[in-house]
Order: sequence, then structure tokens, then C-alpha cells
Amino acid sequence: MKILITAGPTREYIDPVRFWSNRSSGKMGFAVAETAAVRGHEVTLISGPVILGTPPDVTRIDIESADEMLEAVKRELPAHDALIMCAAVSDFRPKIRSFHKLKKSTMPPVIELERNPDILQQMLPYKGNRVFVGFAAETDNIHVEAERKLREKGLNLIVANDVTQSDAGFEVDTNRATLIYPDRDPEQLPLMTKVELGGVLIDFVEAQSMV
Ligand code: PMT
Repeated sequence: MKILITAGPTREYIDPVRFWSNRSSGKMGFAVAETAAVRGHEVTLISGPVILGTPPDVTRIDIESADEMLEAVKRELPAHDALIMCAAVSDFRPKIRSFHKLKKSTMPPVIELERNPDILQQMLPYKGNRVFVGFAAETDNIHVEAERKLREKGLNLIVANDVTQSDAGFEVDTNRATLIYPDRDPEQLPLMTKVELGGVLIDFVEAQSMV
């Protein structure tokens, strides 16, 4: 199969030296990409700014902003059978981006934000028979929030991770996830490495493609 994976954060620039972003290290997405390539799939990895090396046999495309990630996903999706969105895409960006460094003396005390496009929702009309997997990093009402995103984004599976736990979610090498499906009961997975979780997700994608 040809599998498209996103990883890492996006950066939304305020000026050439400052940006709005989040804590994603890219570890989750890179682990899924590594596992998929080891299983013999053709993998394209679209990554925000991270300090990780590219896994062997993975084609990597580097982007910075949510708009750039959207453009890359739009361009690549037609050639792929599955999309796994591990990236923590910034939901907002500064309304005004200055191309000159803002001075401390003139910097506004409030920075106005505007919504970024939702990449999964924008790709939904082009889904066809493709398998779409999303992630949800939550702190409250984890299952309810993840289920809402599953429905709104038309996903085959959403991986809910409780990012209040120190051994799950952002930056660590392990994750404790609940798999939420549109048509069956949720599945609570034990603590496992992100590479092992990648294996579970690739199993799912492979099984879906045979349905
Ligand atoms: O990178 P690590 O340090 O290893 O951390 C891994 C992780 C915590 C970032 C990862 O496991 C994770 O949970 N990623 C999703 C983060 C998130 O908060 O997603 P969300 O709830 O904002 O979005 C839900 C889904 O929609 C995600 O698949 C996301 O990629 C996608 N999305 C979100 C916003 C947006 N504008 N467009 C999108 O497509």
C-alpha cells in the first residue's frame, strides 16, 4: 500500500523570529512511518519542524505551517491509499504576520488569531475508498471529544491519547491510547511504545484495505 503520514507540530509565524506552535516532537508520526516502511509499504511522511532523522525507505516532505501541510497533503493524497494524521496542526494562526521583526516598544500586547483550515475535513470529499486515521490529544472528556472528531472528520479510526499522563502523548516514546471506531466499541490499549502503537495502526489500515 501507499501510506501518507503527517507528523510533528506546525509553526504559525508572528514575525520572522516568533511563532505560535505546540509541544509535538514528531515521535508518534515518525514511529508509524518507520513501522509502515518496515512492513514493506511505500511511505510518504509530511513533517513539521522536528529534530528526528528520517526512517529508512521513507520519503519525507518538510513543511512549517498548517497551510503548507494542507497543500502537501492535497498534492500527495491522490497517489496514496491511506492517510494517517498524527500531526498536531495548529488550529489557529496570527491574523497578521509581520515580515520584519516586531520591536518590543511597538509590539501589540494582544495578538489576534484566526482559524487555520482543517486538513482532514478539507480532504473528506476526496476520501473515496481511502482509509483515514486521525489522532486526538485530549485533556478532558477524552472519549466524547474524540468521537465528535471521528464523526466530523469522516474517519475510519481515531486514536485518542490522554495528554495529561506523563508517559503518553507529547514528546515521550510511549503512548496509552484508546481506539475509537465509527461502527464498534472503543478499544483501550495498554501502555506501549509508539513503534508498537504504529504496528497496531498499520494492522488496522491493512485490514481495512481488504474489506
Ligand atoms: O509528536 P509527539 O510528541 O510524539 O506527540 C504525539 C501527538 C500527541 C501529537 C499525537 O499522538 C496526537 O495526538 N496528534 C493529534 C494532536 C491533536 O491535538 O489533534 P486535534 O485534536 O487538534 O485534531 C484531530 C485530528 O485532526 C488530528 O488527526 C489532526 O492531525 C487533524 N487536524 C487538526 C487540526 C487541523 N487544522 N487539521 C487537521 O487535519
